Amino acid sequence: FFVPDIIEKKKRGLKLSKDEIQFIIDGYVGGSIPDYQISALLMAIYFKGMDEEETTDLTMAMAHSGEMVDLSSIDGIKVDKHSTGGIADTTTLVLLPLASSVGIKVAKMSGRGLGHTGGTVDKLESIPGFCCELDTKTFIDSVNTIGAAITGQSKNLVPADKMLYALRDVTATVDSIPLIASSIMSKKIAGGADKIILDVKFGNGAFMKTFEDAQELGQLMVKIGELAGRETVAYITDMEQPLGLAIGNAIEVVEAIEVLKGKGHEDLLELCLEFASEMMLLAKIESDKTKAVQKLKDSIETGKALAKFKEIIGNQGGDSRVIQDYSLLPKAKYQSEVAAAEDGYVNKIDAARLGLTAMKLGAGRQKKDDIIDPAVGIWIYKKVGDKVKKGEVFAKILANDEAKLSWAVDETRKAFEFTLDSIEKRKVIWAKI
Ligand code: URA
Ligand code: CA
Repeated sequence: FFVPDIIEKKKRGLKLSKDEIQFIIDGYVGGSIPDYQISALLMAIYFKGMDEEETTDLTMAMAHSGEMVDLSSIDGIKVDKHSTGGIADTTTLVLLPLASSVGIKVAKMSGRGLGHTGGTVDKLESIPGFCCELDTKTFIDSVNTIGAAITGQSKNLVPADKMLYALRDVTATVDSIPLIASSIMSKKIAGGADKIILDVKFGNGAFMKTFEDAQELGQLMVKIGELAGRETVAYITDMEQPLGLAIGNAIEVVEAIEVLKGKGHEDLLELCLEFASEMMLLAKIESDKTKAVQKLKDSIETGKALAKFKEIIGNQGGDSRVIQDYSLLPKAKYQSEVAAAEDGYVNKIDAARLGLTAMKLGAGRQKKDDIIDPAVGIWIYKKVGDKVKKGEVFAKILANDEAKLSWAVDETRKAFEFTLDSIEKRKVIWAKI
């Protein structure tokens, strides 16, 4: 093949063959095709798109560009849940113990990307001693013996995606649905999951701003999963406000424990029950959805799910007493409450603004080598549709820097919009594909 011919073909909106796509990925990762040719091709893809088959071929070529994780020594069907990213998404922290408490084997690999807060591994590492750098054998053995383990992503997982993403980032080609879909699905497929649940978020605090775009992305990823022989289910969920109440790292661990104690916020609980019950169906642990949900609720009620979290924490070197004693988690030096100026109802919460505020407090990474401050973050006590009284506290800021504290109070106040008329709560799950 000749690279300019392939670019020319896509420029004219023609379909690329599997072999051409393989040639491009091999050449790029191998160093024989330069950035400038790939840049031109990415821009052609941005404008002309790719069909389901091309996107699947790209996904598979990318997935095979590095290590393909083999989870076959773990019994049962491995189901992975993946979120496209939102603000304060505490679901994975809850799902790990909740799903394994009903018999699902959960082998979770999670990245440490940029974001408003850390990823799931960063959040868990706010527990003293907790280690997310497991070698493959320890990881697999842990899943086999206690039912769940979490580890940082292998450095050699989908190198093609690392290279392509960096190039997309500087050539204004990130927001192409086939490129996003192949980026996400290649990592899921290389990660070794048999079946995949995708949480495609939309709204002000998400990558996809509209329901329609999220739906298009979800449909394409489900199709890729099907063509690649990995059953995939996608949910379109709300990110017009943060999920649950905590935005941070240590405080999201607290929030997850609260859910496992039956005291978590209803929207976070609803999403966790939906994903965990779907995992049970996909893993063939249960065939009836209602029964699956009931088993999960029982597991929370009886303390089984919480006990499983304790076991997972202990197994990875963490201090499992945090389950009962939150004061063992890192604590911020300063805190400040934010109170309502008038009676009213919460009309809107600017999730993106809160996320950015949490990040600037130190909860997330702006650059790859930034260090996360596990103690800082934002608690919100009111969600859209909730009533507030004058003087009532609706948020609390945790900071390790006094100047940032007062700035964050101001930002949080600006992120909340109130109204005098009562309004409906926002639904969390909008569609299932
Ligand atoms: N998340 C990814 O992993 N890849 C993208 O391209 C976009 C979001
Ligand atoms: Ca949360």
